[in-house]
Amino acid sequence: MTTFIVLGAQWGDEGKGKMTDYLAEEAEVIVRYQGGNNAGHTVEVENRQYKLHLIPSGILYDHKLNVIGNGVVVDPEALFSEIDYLENLGVKVTPEKLAVSDRAHVIMPYHKTLDKLKEKARGKNEIGTTGKGIGPCYTDKFERSGIRICDLMNKDVFEEKLKENLSLKNKYITQVLGGEALNFKEVFDVYMEYSERLKPYVKDTSVLIYEKIKDNSSVLFEGAQGMLLDIDYGTYPYVTSSNTTAGGVSSGTGIGPSMISRAIGIAKAYTTRVGKGPFPTELEDATGDWIRERGHEYGVTTGRSRRCGWLDLVILKTTARVSGLTSFAVTKMDTLAGLEKLKVCIGYKFKDKIIDYFPASLEDLAECQPIYEEFEGWGEEITQAESYEGLPQNAKKYLKRIEEFTGTKVSVISVGPKRNQTIRVGDI
Ligand code: GDP
Ligand code: IMO
Ligand code: MG
Repeated sequence: MTTFIVLGAQWGDEGKGKMTDYLAEEAEVIVRYQGGNNAGHTVEVENRQYKLHLIPSGILYDHKLNVIGNGVVVDPEALFSEIDYLENLGVKVTPEKLAVSDRAHVIMPYHKTLDKLKEKARGKNEIGTTGKGIGPCYTDKFERSGIRICDLMNKDVFEEKLKENLSLKNKYITQVLGGEALNFKEVFDVYMEYSERLKPYVKDTSVLIYEKIKDNSSVLFEGAQGMLLDIDYGTYPYVTSSNTTAGGVSSGTGIGPSMISRAIGIAKAYTTRVGKGPFPTELEDATGDWIRERGHEYGVTTGRSRRCGWLDLVILKTTARVSGLTSFAVTKMDTLAGLEKLKVCIGYKFKDKIIDYFPASLEDLAECQPIYEEFEGWGEEITQAESYEGLPQNAKKYLKRIEEFTGTKVSVISVGPKRNQTIRVGDI
């Protein structure tokens, strides 16, 4: 039995979807533990591209169990549109293949309204959220006024909670934020339809996963977003509203930490970020544009162009520590082919010190000057490489430096979006 976490080691979009799909071959159960449909995970199988937001990337296999854990926030509208999208592409989504936690919180229409209105109210300090209602839904969860899936399953409970919420939310929306009130009956009727459709999928997923672990099944926990979007360890407030780091797995699934054996950090060979917030190694020049075009760095969920920059080993070292990584998977090594020189950040000059950890304060971070080490690039395309030995010498040096600096081995190297464009170097 192995239980392992696949998590983003940077600002999201590292290739978690691809790596989850690749590693899911070795797992029977694939579990999402945080975030919601703010995520956009791309998987390419046999010339077809799938874009997943809420459903675990293991769904593309015929006989694996996929779980949406209690730590996820679930927008039923998004869930059903994803199920329909997959079914249209010939992927079966049945209650045998997908379970949704009865403890997960439900994204309501007012969460989406609030997300957009609050962003507008922040003005120049906007976070650049995906507008999917993620933050307001988690706010209600922690404020203890949220509506859970189990509440949605009970008509009377749901009715009462919706009324209570709408009476306060509508005042806030109309009187403070200048938006339009939501109509109780309209929301209630639509959500009652969702409730019916959702019912067969709803389970106590902590019990379900625990039983699978006891049966010796392998379980893969699929993270969304990335280390620096973590609510505690990210570039607060330019973060998402959940724990994207390994610590989020236990609380987000109801599985104790001693039952989780490995954590693999997915790291892109360079760095990208969507939305606002600091980014020390950002390249706002022709090289950044070159990487964006060659790496097709445009968001899966919002279509926004991603900011691009050099690989930052300070970030990877921080992720290795915070999430206790057992190894890295380095993706998009193929994208960098063709750059004559590559830079890698190996520390920040901060006041009169050199630091190799990520500071908490954004004001301190703004003062940090990245210290770079330069590497010779590799001219040759590597999308066909099948082994570590087959990689150019300079690519190997680049990977070795990641291992050396972070004290964490690289167990997987990805050289293209497809399953077979993956090189396994060792145990995860
Ligand atoms: P996620 O959110 O971490 O799952 O990543 P996204 O799907 O948002 O973005 C990663 C993009 O890179 C997707 O379009 C993937 O198909 C693609 N991708 C993943 N690994 C590789 C790789 O090694 N090389 C290339 N060229 N593309 C990759
Ligand atoms: P995957 O799983 C990249 C970013 C948003 C914004 C911030 C807060 O595909 O890696 P939110 O809507 O979560 O309140 O937005 O977080 N963000 C992501 N960036 N990849 C993601 O997911 C993201 N999910 C949220 O752009 O800056
Ligand atoms: Mg993504």
